[in-house]
This record gives sequence, structure tokens and C-alpha cells, in this order.
Amino acid sequence: MRPMSANAPQVKRVLSGIQPTHDSFHLGNYLGALRQWVALQESHDAFYCVVDLHALTVQPDPVALRKRTLASVAQLIALGIDPEKSTLFIQSHVPAHNQLGWVMECLTGFGEAGRMTQFKDKSQKSGADRTVVGLFTYPILQAADILLYQANLVPVGEDQRQHIELTRDLGQRFNSTYAATGATFTIPEAYILKAAAKINDLQDPTSKMSKSAASQNGVIEIMDAPEVNLKKIKSAMTDTGREVKFDEKEKPGVSNLLTIYSALTGKNIADSENDFDGKGYGDFKLGVAQVVVDYFAPVRAKALELLEDPDYLNSLLKIGADKANEVAEQTLKATYEAMGLIARG
Ligand code: TRP
Repeated sequence: MRPMSANAPQVKRVLSGIQPTHDSFHLGNYLGALRQWVALQESHDAFYCVVDLHALTVQPDPVALRKRTLASVAQLIALGIDPEKSTLFIQSHVPAHNQLGWVMECLTGFGEAGRMTQFKDKSQKSGADRTVVGLFTYPILQAADILLYQANLVPVGEDQRQHIELTRDLGQRFNSTYAATGATFTIPEAYILKAAAKINDLQDPTSKMSKSAASQNGVIEIMDAPEVNLKKIKSAMTDTGREVKFDEKEKPGVSNLLTIYSALTGKNIADSENDFDGKGYGDFKLGVAQVVVDYFAPVRAKALELLEDPDYLNSLLKIGADKANEVAEQTLKATYEAMGLIARG
């Protein structure tokens, strides 16, 4: 049973965030999560943010961060996030994220935070002395991002499941610890589509497509020029044999390309295989490349056009920040009250 909070919306609310850590989102980001963002804004009260504060954990170059934050916003709009339907904003424009983050830190166990697998992986790689505290508290800030908006659903990729579990635990813990004022937080659910296409690296088709890959040759970037993506797909790794057949074990390369083709055309795998019946891998790769290029060339063009007019983007972001602040401040106020902090007179 989910308690209804006072600040809960009528229509179900969705919140998600993405880090501005790169110049471009990649195909895996889009098919794994962003595509769901676009779909959900039709049926839900959607809040989407570019989580620039989370990006600070890797101490990005300030010029790059500024550029990437705006580029992220432009790409989200170009991919179909409509700022009239969704509240699109930048995390640092809403101070309540940090404020609720502190509250949630005071409710999180040290061991509990230490068990987050992303933290463990990243900190093991760099060693304790080079791991910043912000990386440790990262999932707690993420919990604050979500709880502030009384979100019901959080569309994310599979890798975020544990962070959403933590968010639920913290929300429930708060609600039961400070129950006298009623349920302060809506307990969210992860929205992770089983059928969401899992896209792998073109050169290493048994690993997830990711920006941290050793080589970028296997990563399709939305903002790359069509020729670049054409070339990457043409040189994608295929497998032995010559038949275009979906078989993740025996033919991971071909299967990955079929998954991409199927996801972007909306055809199922069997129909996708049929499209290349009797054709060799060369024709197959060209066919997939064409679909990818046709799909993303207009997105890239639209994003580049938006980036030509930063004033316009900033004006949209101001509207988004105002809407987000209104909701966030209400939740923060209720949180402080529930905990016994005295409201400023
Ligand atoms: N940690 C998420 C990721 O790397 C990004 C994120 C931050 C997020 N805050 C969020 C996602 C709130 C969903 C909701 O993908």
C-alpha cells in the first residue's frame, strides 16, 4: 500500500535524470532509458533533469561541463522531450536537491551506502584516497532528486535498480520515523522495461555500449556526423557464418545489430531477420547503418540548431526551474517540519 502524500500530484508523476558527462548521448542511453522518458511524458506529469551536481564527482573541466549541460538539454529536446509537456530543468537550479540530500544523508547507514555496487566498483578502481566523498553520497543525492518530486515512477536503465531501491528504503524510513505528520514522501518505483533493448558495443558485442569503453569505435553517438556512424556500423564486428540470424550466444555481433535495427524500425526480430534474408553481412550492416543514420540525423540537426540559440534554451530552463522549485520547496518544507526544524518566521 502506498501512502498518499499531501504534495502528491493527481496524475502519476515521473522523474528521471541524466548526467552531462559527455558531448553526446549514445544509442544505449536512448534505447535503454531516454526513449521511455519521451513516451512517459504523454501519460504522466514528467520531471526530467540534467544532473549537473552529480557530474561534479569527477571534477569536470568547467568549460566542458557548461557545454555538455546545454548539449544535454538540446539533445533531450531534439529526441522528443517537449518542454511544454515535461518539466525540463537543471538540477543545480533547484537548491532543495542539496538540502534534502543532507536530510537523507542523516538517515542513511554508512554500511548501507558502502554496499552500493556502482560506488564499490568505481572506488575499487581508483582506491580510497582518490575516491571523493561525493561519490559515496551520490546515490543519496539521487534519492533526494526523486523524493523531492513525489515521483511514482523512475524510468532508468537496469544499472540504476539498486539506487532506486535505496530511494525507496530512505523514503519509507523517513515516513515511518516521522509519521506524526503523515507520509511525507511518495515511495517511487523503478520503471525498467524488460523489453528495453540492451545495446552492446559494436566492437565488443558481449559488453554493454558505454562511454567508458576502451575504444569509441563501438559506440554510436547521437551527435556524431552521419558519416562517422555509418563507418562505425560498417566496421562493426560480426561473427562467423554468413546468415543474418539472432543468436546471442553464437552470433553476438549480428544479434546486437538486429536488436538496434528492430528497436529503431519497430519491427520484431523475426521480421528484421527476414529483411536480410539471403543477404550477406556487408549488406546487412549497410541496412542497419542506414536506419540509424536516418533516425538520428534529424535529431542531431535539431540539437545543433537549438545550440545556436542558448538564450532560447536558457529561457526554457528558467521556466523548468521555476516549476521544479515550486514542487521541490513544498516537499522540503514538509520534510523540515516533520523533523522538527523551525520554519523561518
Ligand atoms: N545515477 C543516474 C545515472 O547515472 C542519474 C541520476 C541522478 C538519476 N539522479 C537521478 C536517474 C534521479 C533517475 C532519477 O543514470
